[in-house]
Amino acid sequence: MIREWLDANPIGIEDGLRHDKWCAMMWPRLRLLHELLAEDGSLWVTLDDNEAQRGKLILDEVFGEHCFVTNIVWQARYSVSNDTDVSLSHNHILVYSKHKDTWKKLRNELPRDETQAKQYSNNDDDPKGPWRAIPWDAPNVRENLSYPITTPSGAVRFPPRGRCWSREEAKWKEIVAAGLDYYGQNGDGAPSYKRYLEDAGTVVPTTWWPHTNSGHTDEASKELAAFNLDVPFQTPKPLRLLEKILTIATRPDSVVLDSFAGSGTTGHAVLSLNKRDGGNRRFILVQLDEENGKANADNLTAERVRRVINGYDFTGTQKTQFLRERLNWRAIEKAGDLVDKVQGIENLHGHEYDRITKQVKDGELIVTGERRVSISSSGEFVIRPLPDVTRASGSKQRRFARQLRASLTYCSFATQRTEMWRCRPMAMALGPFSKLASTT
Ligand SMILES: C[S@@+](CC[C@H](N)C(=O)[O-])C[C@H]1O[C@@H](n2cnc3c(N)ncnc32)[C@H](O)[C@@H]1O
Repeated sequence: MIREWLDANPIGIEDGLRHDKWCAMMWPRLRLLHELLAEDGSLWVTLDDNEAQRGKLILDEVFGEHCFVTNIVWQARYSVSNDTDVSLSHNHILVYSKHKDTWKKLRNELPRDETQAKQYSNNDDDPKGPWRAIPWDAPNVRENLSYPITTPSGAVRFPPRGRCWSREEAKWKEIVAAGLDYYGQNGDGAPSYKRYLEDAGTVVPTTWWPHTNSGHTDEASKELAAFNLDVPFQTPKPLRLLEKILTIATRPDSVVLDSFAGSGTTGHAVLSLNKRDGGNRRFILVQLDEENGKANADNLTAERVRRVINGYDFTGTQKTQFLRERLNWRAIEKAGDLVDKVQGIENLHGHEYDRITKQVKDGELIVTGERRVSISSSGEFVIRPLPDVTRASGSKQRRFARQLRASLTYCSFATQRTEMWRCRPMAMALGPFSKLASTT
């Protein structure tokens, strides 16, 4: 029904009802994803600024407000667009779980990244290696946590005004006995203790995901270009982003469902994580066949996964599409802006590619970077088909949902591309991919 309605009502960028139509498209899909999600699983939704707030309201309604875990801000772009008022740097990742308290206990922490490790140093040549001073004082005023501490120089310290020590005196004495107490470089500053990098372990995920440790869209385009699929696709996600999400949200036996799979980054990331930790995560990728026949489940999503699975040696021309813009009257009126944009691309990326091509095809201007590359990887995989529920009745689909119990579902949207969501029911493009071995 929704498909017929959307087909009869093409959605343009100036359509006053575009947000209502987006909500109408999302509602049944998120309801279905909620049904498919395991009781201890989580849903991760990447949205840009166009629909993030509406996405949050729909998700609050579908899951219940109490199931909202967080809104992660991912720095998707590091470059600045000079042709706009405020250059967009981030995307939102909305996270929901069916039972927030249980999920909190199940979710994983992240390995310490380079920036976090740099907070540790070794300015006193400690044989245990890099360390950092953790202050002993904490907020609050508590009488039993306000005991005196004597520094090596003999000065007596109490907690700063309005604060107390973080633990009881007995704990501090253990720290002193272990030789971990520290009072600043002069030896008579505020009490703190040494925490060594080698004992620091993993870190709790935060809501700020900079491109330095979560990847960016440029990197994602390059990763996809390495497969030389010759299928234009503008909105891939970087492998590092998906690996990070999977690290937090999955166990080695999890089932991962990406219902808007695009270039199949999620499948690639599952395979890569399985390889790293010997896990047996399985994945289901859903991708609709775009009507123009360009990016579809078989020639894009499945093909990338196939190549990761079989390994790929590639020597040839790698192409990255930087711009694809319809040349309508509006674009012609603002031709100067378009030329500036193309020149900006040439300035920014010219040195990374052998050449930047500009082509007008089927009423669109396409700007592509091309370079010769040589890549090699290998792997060993078996693809096991899942039951085809595309033509199944409602009750059969519900049975499948119960069997599936996905541990994590992920969807990502670039909502300014309105044509993307003039789409068919999700189940029509259910992909038959499941991992049994490991690769990449
Ligand atoms: C932003 S892209 C996803 C990018 C993906 N995470 C990647 O790394 O390539 C969204 C994708 O969802 C697809 N799509 C849109 N509506 C869909 C639907 N109803 N069912 C399945 N896929 C859909 C679009 O064709 C597009 O490929």
